[in-house]
Amino acid sequence: MAAQIGLIGLGTMGAMLALNIAEKGFQIAVWNRTTAVTHQFKAEAGALAGQIVATETLAEFVAAITPPRSIILMVPAGPVVDDQIAALKGHLGPDDLIIDAGNANFHDTNRRSAAASGYRFLGMGVSGGEEGARHGPSIMGGGAREDWDRVAPVLEAISAKYEGTPCATWMGPGGAGHFVKAVHNGIEYADMQMIAEIYGVMRDGLGMEAAAIGDVLDGWNKGPLQSYLIEISAAVSKAVDGGKPMLDVILDKAGQKGTGRWTVIEAQQLSAPIPVIEAAVMARNVSARLEERQAGEAVFGAAPVALPAGAVTVAQLEQAMIAGKILCYAQGFALIVAASAEFGWDLPLPDIARVWREGCIIRSSMLNDMATALEQGPGRGLMLAPFFADHLKAATPGLRAVVSAGAAHGLPLPALSAGLAWFDMMRTGRSTANMIQAQRDFFGAHGFERLDQAGKGLHGPWGGHMV
Ligand code: 6PG
Repeated sequence: MAAQIGLIGLGTMGAMLALNIAEKGFQIAVWNRTTAVTHQFKAEAGALAGQIVATETLAEFVAAITPPRSIILMVPAGPVVDDQIAALKGHLGPDDLIIDAGNANFHDTNRRSAAASGYRFLGMGVSGGEEGARHGPSIMGGGAREDWDRVAPVLEAISAKYEGTPCATWMGPGGAGHFVKAVHNGIEYADMQMIAEIYGVMRDGLGMEAAAIGDVLDGWNKGPLQSYLIEISAAVSKAVDGGKPMLDVILDKAGQKGTGRWTVIEAQQLSAPIPVIEAAVMARNVSARLEERQAGEAVFGAAPVALPAGAVTVAQLEQAMIAGKILCYAQGFALIVAASAEFGWDLPLPDIARVWREGCIIRSSMLNDMATALEQGPGRGLMLAPFFADHLKAATPGLRAVVSAGAAHGLPLPALSAGLAWFDMMRTGRSTANMIQAQRDFFGAHGFERLDQAGKGLHGPWGGHMV
């Protein structure tokens, strides 16, 4: 049987994606470095086995696919991808297409796109975890448009759907797809961190039990905060293990494969402020320093203390989350705009919001509103869109009350606080950066501009030396 597409790498994500492809009626050839895994995969594929060609060598794998071949790589990001390309390319013709579907760093994808010779190359971000890979991920593609168009029928068929529209979109050349995926992951970190912060206010500040917190989150999931992450946070809050709330026995050290860190690094390179995401990555790094945190508690006393009655309401917590989410996404989309300008991409912001509406980890109902706002106001920051400006005017008082209560009672809210600070900075027409300019000119004669005089590189009357 000739396969219409091939997939290499039958780990969890690869196996799920291959089953998804087979389920949508495509004949798929599969290969895995460990042959036993390949045969076990087909043996466990049930009714879909008839559409799966299990192969034992790369030569057999390539030969099983009808040219021009499309081959998906689902292998760990990094050197393994380069090794797999090197092992494959000798078997390929100039029109055969390699598609890296892992969590590659977009710089690597840029490099691999430029180096593709004797074969073609796409890089695509695939979001949604195991469930998404099996039943419908969100897919963000990068590379030559004609290569995307060739494989799009398969990708659209297997992708998540939002009201029938596939959540699979070509973002631009080279690493554009993997860049958008990195921004997705940065926002994912921030969404998760803000939920964790609000959970902390309810647990430590209001003394609420996990199940009660889960009920609150379930309620929020019926309103503007409807999202996969709110839904699963409610579920994990209600989970029980041996009669105890599951959350109460899980160690508070967060792991990270580093995808959110890439977002922060790129934002700094682009001078694009994403303080909510930066705070979320910082919070993960701090969480990993458990022993240092325990030492700090021993010396200074535990930070979190119970809130006095009435300090914050659950309604204010919901408002804080709504405001924090809007501010975070405004920063994320602004980062995408900065990357478009820097890399000469024309990243489609409305389509990016649309492709995130289903399948991916940050999927939420608010993304549909964001797509509309981005469509209606190209070049306008998300927070200035009337729909979101109105939401912010209504919700930021709650954010301010929660951040204030957290600061006053040692409840750490780094992401929500960063969002509020950025919001206030972005509505300050006369900031304090004049002090920065004066300092820089005093010690380094770096020059400044004046309000009352034209010209740049002006200097103050301090002679440029320390007093
Ligand atoms: C997705 C996820 C996924 C990521 C996990 C773990 O979109 O399906 O973002 O790609 O690998 O979330 O990421 P961290 O280990 O960095 O939290």
